[in-house]
Amino acid sequence: MSVPISSRVLSALCALTLLACAAPAVRAADAAPSAHVTILATGGTIAGSGATSTTTVGYTAATVGVDRLIAAVPELAKVAQVKGEQVFQIASENMSNEHWLTLAKRVNTLLAQSDVDGVVITHGTDTLEETAYFLDLVVKSRKPVVLVGAMRPGTALSADGPINLYNAVLLAASQEAVGKGVLVAMNDQIHGARDVTKTNTSTPDSFKTPELGMLGYFQGNKPYFYHASTRKHTIDTEFDISKLDALPQVDIVYGYANVNPVALNALVGAGAKGIIHAGVGDGSLASKVLPSLTAARKQGVLIVRSARVGQGIVARNGEANDDELDFVVSDTLNPQKARILLMLALTKTSDSKDIQRMFYTY
Ligand code: SIN
Repeated sequence: MSVPISSRVLSALCALTLLACAAPAVRAADAAPSAHVTILATGGTIAGSGATSTTTVGYTAATVGVDRLIAAVPELAKVAQVKGEQVFQIASENMSNEHWLTLAKRVNTLLAQSDVDGVVITHGTDTLEETAYFLDLVVKSRKPVVLVGAMRPGTALSADGPINLYNAVLLAASQEAVGKGVLVAMNDQIHGARDVTKTNTSTPDSFKTPELGMLGYFQGNKPYFYHASTRKHTIDTEFDISKLDALPQVDIVYGYANVNPVALNALVGAGAKGIIHAGVGDGSLASKVLPSLTAARKQGVLIVRSARVGQGIVARNGEANDDELDFVVSDTLNPQKARILLMLALTKTSDSKDIQRMFYTY
């Protein structure tokens, strides 16, 4: 039986064994790059177009297909053998749990193939951080997975999509990215899926990892890493979506001055299995909302206290007696990422102590 072998493994073998693998007539500069990267396109501004070159708001996202995205950056052919697949063509505010399950299954299938060394996902920036964290928890491979978007459509002056896509493919083709979990390539920077967030409505430097720090930079056609998260990801998680067609309903309620429990009660009434409470400050619970949260928990709804400020630890038994209320705290996850972890946690257990363990693990 013949065993398929990726061209990158073959070139490593050639280098190690001094085998004359390359055809002598081919000069090094002309040889195809050895890494094989598949680009999965999902839409967003990186595939968007505007009426004029100065249209940077009011353009249409998700209009350009993956073949045109690849053709617009011929430099990609220098760093990897690239294939494209159009998985969806949507603005990322329409990304759903079902899209995530479809995407994650496709990523896992591709990465199980010996002829795929890495995957790049082009994505709208609005929910890019959420898709990245979902994949970080459910991809079952050490091979690189890189999400990339753009803050300006391809028709704009100084469009950022082409350089971001080039960097993403460079990263997905690199040995440095192996085993680092799902990564985000934006604005010449490398971010980790768990902690990156979109911080500005429109500027190209919108993606940041506040306080915990980005992982590295791109410079001179190379990725450089400086940090790594200590949290478990990809092959080291307990989550398996291979047989799932849906995820439990988990919703977010927001804290603010003069808050009322109407939205919370409606979501619980509509069947939410979990609620992320994006509390003010360090995750405080207003006295007008606490009775509804307590009642929801007694009905079996999992309650996670998170914080709308988006940075810092929400301390267990800090602003509320979580042990007594049987609530979970989100640690440093922002509300939208806490929602993802709680959905996946609920596919494994409804035990609040076990779910708290997961929030301190991932
Ligand atoms: C989107 O998220 O699909 C639109 C905004 C963007 O990609 O920057």
